[in-house]
This record gives sequence, C-alpha cells and structure tokens, in this order.
Amino acid sequence: MDLRARQLMARSHRRRTVVLAAGLGGVGLAAGGLSLLAQGLAPVPASKKPLDRNGGPYVPTPWPIVDQMIRMGAIGERDLVMDLGCGDGRLVIAAAKRHGARGYGVDIDPDLVRLATENASREGVSGRVRFEERDIFDTDVREATVLTLYLLPWMMMKLRPRFLAELRPGTRIVAHDYHFEDWRAASDFTFDVPEKVAITGSATTTVHLFLVPAKVEGRWRVDAPGAGAFDRGELVLRQGLNDFEGTLAQAARPVRRLDATSLRGIDLRFALPVAGPGGQPGRAIVRARVDGDRMQGTIESTLAATTPFGATRLN
Ligand SMILES: C[S@@+](CC[C@H](N)C(=O)[O-])C[C@H]1O[C@@H](n2cnc3c(N)ncnc32)[C@H](O)[C@@H]1O
Repeated sequence: MDLRARQLMARSHRRRTVVLAAGLGGVGLAAGGLSLLAQGLAPVPASKKPLDRNGGPYVPTPWPIVDQMIRMGAIGERDLVMDLGCGDGRLVIAAAKRHGARGYGVDIDPDLVRLATENASREGVSGRVRFEERDIFDTDVREATVLTLYLLPWMMMKLRPRFLAELRPGTRIVAHDYHFEDWRAASDFTFDVPEKVAITGSATTTVHLFLVPAKVEGRWRVDAPGAGAFDRGELVLRQGLNDFEGTLAQAARPVRRLDATSLRGIDLRFALPVAGPGGQPGRAIVRARVDGDRMQGTIESTLAATTPFGATRLN
C-alpha cells in the first residue's frame, strides 16, 4: 500500500468531516454481489516498483455502492463503461455481467490489472471487457458512454476539462464520493454503507451522476412552423458550466430573453413569454434534444396547441 497516497485519501476524507480508518486493503465484501465476492478476493501482492497512484490508493468500492453506481448510470448493453483506476475491475465486470455492457478499465498497478483480468475470466465476461496497465492521463476516454470513478478530488478536477471537451454530450459519469466542485451533478444519492466505516470512519456515502452537457454556445436558426412567436427567429446562446442563457431575435420584434433555461446532458429547455392574437399574455416552453448542430423538440404554449421546434447551428 502506498502510504503517501493513503494519507492523501485520508486528508481529503477528513476535509469532508470523516476520518480514514486503517486497513484499506481489507475492506469486507458484502454478500449479494457477483459470485467472485463469495469466493473473496486474493490478497493483492505488493508491487515491485513504486507506483505513482496520484489518483488515490487502492480502495475497492464496496458492493452496495457498486450496485448504486450501476443503477444511477442506467447501464445497458449498448454502453461502453470505462473505469479509470479500475482496481480489481469490479465495476466494469458487474456492468458486463449484469447488463451486457462492454467495458474497459485501466490501472497504474499491474497486479491489479492482472487480478481484474482473472476476475473477468472467472465471471465469464472476458469477451466483453478489457483491462490495461495504463496511466489515467494517457487513456483515451472519447468512446466511453459511461465513466465510473473513485478518485481523489484533485484528480477529479484535473480530469474535468478533458471530460467536458472530449466526452460525447450525454455521456454519464458516475462518481463515488468525490465530485467536480461547481459542475453540478444531475443527481446525487446519499446512503449509509456499513463497509465504508472501515475506509472513511463514516458509513455515509454519496454517489454522484454527472451528464456531459451538449455544446450549445453560438447562433442557431430556429425552424418552428406554426409557432409565430418563434418562426424564423435566431437564438443566441451562451453556455455556462451547468446551464446556458440566451436571447431570441425575430425580424421586426424586440429581442427577447429566454428564461427558466436548463441543460441536462443533451436535453435543453427554456421558456419565453408569448402573446395571443388579442395580445393576451402567455408562456411557451421549449423542450429539445441537441444532436451536434441540430436541435429538435416541441413548443408547449399556454395559448396554443403544441407545435414542433427545430434549430440549426449557424456558427
Ligand atoms: C480508490 S481505488 C478505486 C478502484 C475501483 N475503481 C473501485 O471503485 O473499486 C483508485 C484506483 O486508482 C488507481 N490509480 C491511482 N492513480 C492512477 C493513475 N494515475 N492512473 C491509473 N490508475 C491510477 C489505483 O491504483 C487504485 O486502484
């Protein structure tokens, strides 16, 4: 066990008001997981060369948390699940075995990579998962549809810009305990897991789900036949980390500011005040899905029937 890394994990846990207890490598395995659990894990031999585990020491995610991470990731057979710092491979193996996903795990520790590969074979998923000895910083993540992470806070923040730039919009990132600071999670789930007491001194655990947002910054030509308040309008959108703001301009009308904006992965929403034929005030809500340079969805209005909404990127 890398003592410095363990101290780092402890310090970061303490900052969250919990204390690292001893015996990280000896975390108990809950019943009810994969059958490899029942058999227990072979002790991990000490590595021959010093490893730069800058993402954190080896601390396996307890099985009830694995279950919750898989649930929140809504993992299915079309997914490619990547675990960066995969340890014994449990997240990737569970995703493949239970949901038919494909998986890829990397770890800096060759002994763990060997163990993960053996575990995959024992669980009958070798055809769908692969493990490699590799530094997280040298790992190409672009093909992932789901990332699973149990890494120290500084590593999360170091990786954040890459995830936002390189992962496809809509990619799910499921993180055990640590998060991306001011990038808000789409959802969080906090629960008590007795096995965590041996790791952090507290049973309380949070799993965070992040959705990589669509890139909406720029000008968009609106195509909304049947919705006069939008037709041939031009949206100008400015992207923030968690949201966006914007305006709608139409010939011979004042520019209107969008309100109630939200961006959850590739799902965008905004509202706009509208007026009926007699000038009566109303409100329209646009919900659209962003697919590269196109958006498609609907306009629901308090004054009229629901009509289609589309937009195409201009720059
Ligand atoms: C807290 S453990 C998580 C293991 C596994 N993901 C799980 O949840 O059970 C962190 C893992 O990251 C690995 N690691 C740390 N820094 C790394 C790096 N720079 N590149 C690859 N792996 C790294 C460690 O060897 C360790 O196995």
